[in-house]
Amino acid sequence: MKKTTKAKMIIAAFLAAVMFLSACGASAPGGSQKQGSQETETQKPKSAVEPSEQGESVNSAEYFGKAGEGQTGLNSEAASERETGKQPETASEGGTEAQSETADESAAMESEVQMTEGLKWWQKTNVCEIYIRSFNDTDGDGIGDLNGITEKLDYLKKMGIGAIWLTPCYKSPQADNGYDIADYYEIDETFGTMEDMDRLIAEAGKRDIRIVMDLVFNHTSDQNSWFIESASGKDNPKSDWYIWRDAKPDGGPPTNWRGIFGGSAWTWSETRGQYYLHTFLSEQPDLNWENPEVRSALYDVANFWLDKGVGGFRMDAVTYIKKPEFKDGEPDAGDGMTAIHNMTANTDGILDYLHEFKDKVQRGKDIFTVGEANGVSASELPQWVGEDGVFDMVFEFSHMLIDLNSETDWSDRREWSLADLKRILGESQKNTAQNGWYPIFFENHDQPRCIDHFFPELSVSSTSSENSASFDSSASSENSAFFDTGASSDIGASSDIVAASDSNVASGSDTASASDADTDVRMAAKVIGTLMFTLRGTPFLYQGQELGFRNVTWDVIDAYNDISTKRHYEFLIDEGKTVEEAMEAVRHFSRDSARTPMHWTAGENAGFTDGTPWLPIHDNYKTCNVETEEKDPDSILSWYRSMAAVRKAHEELIDGSFEEILNEHKQIYAFIRRGSSHEAIVLTNFSREEAEYDASIVEEAELVISSAEGGGVPGILSPLESAVFERKK
Ligand code: NOJ
Repeated sequence: MKKTTKAKMIIAAFLAAVMFLSACGASAPGGSQKQGSQETETQKPKSAVEPSEQGESVNSAEYFGKAGEGQTGLNSEAASERETGKQPETASEGGTEAQSETADESAAMESEVQMTEGLKWWQKTNVCEIYIRSFNDTDGDGIGDLNGITEKLDYLKKMGIGAIWLTPCYKSPQADNGYDIADYYEIDETFGTMEDMDRLIAEAGKRDIRIVMDLVFNHTSDQNSWFIESASGKDNPKSDWYIWRDAKPDGGPPTNWRGIFGGSAWTWSETRGQYYLHTFLSEQPDLNWENPEVRSALYDVANFWLDKGVGGFRMDAVTYIKKPEFKDGEPDAGDGMTAIHNMTANTDGILDYLHEFKDKVQRGKDIFTVGEANGVSASELPQWVGEDGVFDMVFEFSHMLIDLNSETDWSDRREWSLADLKRILGESQKNTAQNGWYPIFFENHDQPRCIDHFFPELSVSSTSSENSASFDSSASSENSAFFDTGASSDIGASSDIVAASDSNVASGSDTASASDADTDVRMAAKVIGTLMFTLRGTPFLYQGQELGFRNVTWDVIDAYNDISTKRHYEFLIDEGKTVEEAMEAVRHFSRDSARTPMHWTAGENAGFTDGTPWLPIHDNYKTCNVETEEKDPDSILSWYRSMAAVRKAHEELIDGSFEEILNEHKQIYAFIRRGSSHEAIVLTNFSREEAEYDASIVEEAELVISSAEGGGVPGILSPLESAVFERKK
C-alpha cells in the first residue's frame, strides 16, 4: 500500500472512530456526541450478531433488534432510532419496542410504515436460493437433501430470509441435476420423500419462510411418462406433447440449431421415426406449448404445489417455451450450426402463454413468480414484470454477461469497467422503477462466484498455470487485456478498477502478504453484499455467497462434474482452441464453481456430509465456513447479516426510489435511496485504491455502516470500502 494512502487511512480511521463512538453515544471526557468530536479512544467493533449454535432457534426480533450493531463504523443509534416507531408485522419481521420519539418522528415513521405496507411480503424480505444437492446432507449419501434444509432453517432466518428458492427436487434421472423432471408430483428419493417436503414447508412456515418451487416447464426428462408415450409412435394421445419434426431430405436434423449444452438440438427417435427438439440435453426434450393440453397439464402441476402451500415459483428457462419458425440460422461456428438461443429465445407471442399461466395459476394468490429470462433485455422488463406483466420479477442477465461477448461461448470474453456495470445495473433499476420489481442477484447455481466474477483482478480463475500472466499488465496474452492497466479501451474506466500491476493475489510470488490479499477478498465480498441489500428490489442470495465462496480452479477437464462444462470444453476444443484456452474458459465459467458443497464447519467434509461428497469440497473450507465466520465480527457472513439488518431497519432501502450519483466516478458506485422521511446514501469503492468524492453528498447524514476499519469518513472511501449513510429529508 502506498504511504500516502496509509496515512490517509490512519486519519480516516481516527475520524471514523470518533464518529463511531459519538454515534454509539460513548461519552468522551468533555466531548460532544456530534460528528467530529475530539474522541481519542478507539473501540473494537463487536459482532453484529452474537454467534449461536447451529440449529438453535433464534428469535429474529432479538436479532434484528441489534440491527447492524457491531460492524465497523456502524451507527447503531441511527438504526435503533429508525426502528423505534415501527411495529413489526410479526416477530420475525423484526423491530424493537417503541421508545420515546418526537411527534414529528412518529408521523414520519407512520408514513414510511404505510409505504412499506403497500408492498407485498416478497418485496420486503430476502430470498435465498438453495441448490439442494450441495446444501446439507443428513443421510450420508454425499448429496444434500430436504431434511438438510429443514435442519438449517434457523441459519437462514438469521439473514432475514423469508423465502427459499429450492432448485428441483422432483423425481429425476439427474442428467442435469434435477432440471430433467420425470415426475412433477414426486420427490426424488435422493432428496427425500413427500413427507420430508411437507415437513420442510411446515417448519419453514413456522419461521415465516416460504418455499418457492423451481418450475421446469420448457422441457421434461426423456424418462417422463409423458415423453415415453409421445415417443412411442405417431399415434398416441400425447403424440403432440413434444416437438417432433421429420428429418431433412438428407436424413439430417430439421434445423442446424446447436443446443445450449452443445451438439445438435435435435435427436432422432427410432420408435417415432422423427427428430425431437431439446434446447438443452437430449435427455431434456422440449414440451410443445402450442398444445393446450400441455399447458393445462403444466398449470395443474403448479396448482398442486400451490395447494401444498408453497410461496411461489421460479420459472426455469421460460424464455424458450415459444418456438419460432423452424429454419436454419446463419452458422456461427466451425460446426456449421447456430446457437439455439439466438433462434428461439423470447420469440414473439411468448407473453400470450405467460399471461395465460398468470391467469390460471397466480391470479388472486399471495405468491410471487420470478422468471429466468435469458434473452430479455432490461428495456423489455416493463412488458414482463409488474401489474400488466407476466411475472412479479425476472432474472435479467446483462450484468452476469458483462464479461462475455457471446453468452454461448465462454472463451469470447471481453473487457469491462465499472462504468459498464453501473450502466447495466442502472438500466434494470430504471426499467423496474415505476412498474415491476427487480430480483437483486450476483450469483446463482449456473454462475461464477461473485468475487471472481466482479473483481477480475482478485479472481482465482486466472491464477492456475501460465494464465496467471493475465494479471501482469505487461503480459502479451490475449486475455491480459482484461486486466491491463495500460490497455487502450474505449470502455474507459477499466484502468481505475483493476490495478493489474498492483495485484498481489494472483501469483502468490508477489511481495504483499496473504493477509492483504485476504483482506481485499473480504472487502470485495462486502461490496457485493452491500449492493445486494441496498439496490431497489428483493435480494436473491445464493448459498455460500454470504461466506465468500470462490470459483474452483481444477486443472483438468475430467475433474469437473457439470455436463455443460464438459460440453463447452469439447466445443472449444473442436473449434480449435488449445487445452489451456479451453481450461481458462472453464475456470471462469464452470457451473461447478457454484455447486461445491456448503461449508458448515472447519471439520471433515466441511460438515456437509458424513459420506463422500458428490462434488469435492472447496479447499478453502477451513477458513470459509459458517462456524468460523459466525465467530468473527469482521467476516463476510457477519457483514451479510448486518446488511440484512440494516435493510430491515431502514425502510427507504426497501421502498425508496433509486438515483445513481457520482455517475462519472471511476472507482465508486453510489446511489441514493429516497424514502418518505429519510434517504440512504450508499457508496461502494470497487477499486483497490482509496477513492475520494465530494463530501457534501453525505452532508448532514449519519453513518449507518462501513466495512472499513475507521471507515465512513465523509469524502473518502478506503480501498474496497462500502458505506451507507442516512439523513432525514
Ligand atoms: C436453467 C437452469 O438454471 C440450469 O441449471 C439448467 O441446466 C437449465 N435451465 C435447463 O433446465
